[in-house]
Amino acid sequence: MSQTAPRVDQISFLNPTIQSDPYPAYHTLRDEAPVYRMPETGFYMVTRYEDVRDVLRDPRSFSSDIRVFGSLQGEGSNVQQTMLKERGWEHVQTLQRTDPPRHSRYRKLLNQVFTGPRVEALAPRIRQLVNELVDGFIDKGECEFVSEFALPLPGIIIAEQIGLDPKEILTFKKWADAMLATAQNPLTPEQIAQVTETELEAQHYLAKVFEDRRQNPRDDIMSGLVNATIDDEEPYSMHELQNLMHQLITGGYETTTSALSHGMWLLVQNPELVKELRNDVSLVDKFVEESLRYKSPVQGLFRQTTRDVDLSGTVIPAESVVIVRFAAANRDDRHFDDADALDIHREKLGTHVAFGAGVHRCIGAVLAREELQSAYRVLVSRMDNIELASPMPEHPIEPSIFLFALKKLHIKFDKLA
Ligand code: HEM
Repeated sequence: MSQTAPRVDQISFLNPTIQSDPYPAYHTLRDEAPVYRMPETGFYMVTRYEDVRDVLRDPRSFSSDIRVFGSLQGEGSNVQQTMLKERGWEHVQTLQRTDPPRHSRYRKLLNQVFTGPRVEALAPRIRQLVNELVDGFIDKGECEFVSEFALPLPGIIIAEQIGLDPKEILTFKKWADAMLATAQNPLTPEQIAQVTETELEAQHYLAKVFEDRRQNPRDDIMSGLVNATIDDEEPYSMHELQNLMHQLITGGYETTTSALSHGMWLLVQNPELVKELRNDVSLVDKFVEESLRYKSPVQGLFRQTTRDVDLSGTVIPAESVVIVRFAAANRDDRHFDDADALDIHREKLGTHVAFGAGVHRCIGAVLAREELQSAYRVLVSRMDNIELASPMPEHPIEPSIFLFALKKLHIKFDKLA
């Protein structure tokens, strides 16, 4: 479905054709306007690998303490904050929306919760769940991969960690969609009111779970968060806990779904690669990294300049919103040889920025990698001749200015004994 590279003046990241296949537009921007001022929003988009790394490593000049989602929704964001304040907990800025040194208050405590050993302990449960989900469709010889596999896998893992009944996975998806909605695209006031009602429902559920874990700690992420303390710092307040959960749910769920769906679509398009992975499953780890580079689930995120900054010859004025485009950086020929080719044996495989870089690099990367690796190891060993069962729609990606979620992926396959 690749289009030819558009001219700079033809590019709009609100256009569904570009949202569905942004890579030709990134090519144009990296070459001709590496620091591109989006005409629709006035945001500055940074697309070259070196520039993206520079922005991520300089939180003093490129702050994360921004309220960009407010500016995307205009007055609507006040409506949302008022509803949350009156009937729940209004949004406060934590972790991803803070700069050092405040950021480290959140990061240090969360690092205790997202440790390698905790994820290792989850690995058998992840493997079991992967197999159960595959059992659910393997005999049919076909499935809709997004809803039957890519959504439930990370959804159930997080739901179990936060104490939600995994059977309530659709409720959980509804919450995650509502929490993400105001960041994705401009909404009408009615839509904002509707998603805020759903977020209130999630907040009240979570508040009960926090209370329960304070009284009866278990070995899960939620208990870790509620009871974590460092040095003589106060435990997190209810507002902070609500906001941290918001970030874990939005950051950890649909990103992993998107990675799984795009990975499977790449396997459909590359049958030789499926054979190669099956013959040597140790290569699955490389495929995971290369698929994250090639189709980055988080296309870009936001920063705000604290001073005038010169980047690749363009001066970005102080107080401007900057979009750091991880996905464009990951296809930059200035850093990756033949960047538009999918190559699991490439040099610099591990240098992609799909999980970000610098102080805000993804805190859930270990968990995401465990889920992805476990999934592909099982999928390539239980399925062969994987093909599309119905053609992809013209716009296969859910509308968003920063995520890259596949709407559907109907596949058929032969079951391996
Ligand atoms: C393939 C899946 C994932 C991708 C592509 C991804 C991507 C990212 C990226 C690009 C960032 C950097 C944000 C920034 O610079 O502002 C980030 C941060 C973060 N991610 Fe992930 N993520 C994934 C999975 C997860 C999971 C499973 C969790 C948790 C369960 C998670 C939780 C977070 C949190 C809380 C942050 C903020 C960290 C901070 O600000 O210090 N992510 N992620």
